[in-house]
Amino acid sequence: MEDKFATGHSHGKIILMGEHAVVYGEPSIALPFPAVDMTATVKGTTGGLLIDCSYYQGIATDMPEVLHSLKKAIQTALSSLGKPNQNIRIKIESSIPPERGMGSSAAVAVAVTRAIYRYYGKELSHEKLLELVDVAERVAHGNPSGLDAVTTSGDSPVFYRKGEPFVPFQLKMDAYLIVGDTGVTGQTREAVQSIADRIENGEQSRTLQQIRALGDLAEKAKSFLEHNKPESLGHVMGDAHELLRELGVSSSDLNRLVDAAKQAGALGAKLTGGGRGGCMIALSATKEDAEKVSAALEKAGAVHTWITHLRQEEQE
Ligand code: MEV
Repeated sequence: MEDKFATGHSHGKIILMGEHAVVYGEPSIALPFPAVDMTATVKGTTGGLLIDCSYYQGIATDMPEVLHSLKKAIQTALSSLGKPNQNIRIKIESSIPPERGMGSSAAVAVAVTRAIYRYYGKELSHEKLLELVDVAERVAHGNPSGLDAVTTSGDSPVFYRKGEPFVPFQLKMDAYLIVGDTGVTGQTREAVQSIADRIENGEQSRTLQQIRALGDLAEKAKSFLEHNKPESLGHVMGDAHELLRELGVSSSDLNRLVDAAKQAGALGAKLTGGGRGGCMIALSATKEDAEKVSAALEKAGAVHTWITHLRQEEQE
């Protein structure tokens, strides 16, 4: 028993278009981002349920508040299998920066759920995985769309509308995506809640209009991606950032990096994911241009940047 072990994997995600609006049924476009990833390892032990990750080592019941969604993911997976919260040690190794809009909370739930099922020798369908991860994501985000779970567990870019099957597609766009990390913890839950508050507290029609406009931009982006139109995609990315800023989910750090990217010649730039910190993305037509944008982002304070080619077969 003690030697038995199993692993589960997941990776980061980048939302190209549609964050926040996706919570209200608008379309979104997201990509798996394998440049950062996560592995959970489950091993047999005797006694309590032990956790070993960079934030905490010890017994699961004493886990700090910030790890509540991880705790929920573990409990949900174990109880769905009818297994007790004991006799295993779960180790989590991650290169996904936490709370940066890269889907770390969904990714950790995906990795531990996969590892637990594998450890107990049980089949786990993708549908079941998404259902279990949704329970943990409700603790992390309050009202998750499911988009993070889909993209941190899958290999394909997706068009996604809440409540509808996600539609995998191939990226044909001949352009480079630059990701810049503000280094500041994002606040997805608060950002999601702040939009809900706007709707409740008198700004309903304007807020819903902005959300619909974000959905329209995501639809347009889909068509630009399919017809290899990087300049047009850049435009709608810029428009989406303006709307997200108006909705109150950007931050001064994100706006500074978005402006720096535009000044360095990016075709467009916007925040990605939950906002209020976290990461932004920018688009460039060539690798040289992308490198210029990346250097400008670092100069403007980004703690980390990544460059990825949007044409899938040639991802780097
Ligand atoms: C967070 O990565 C994306 C949001 O749209 C929330 C969600 O989809 O659950 C802000």
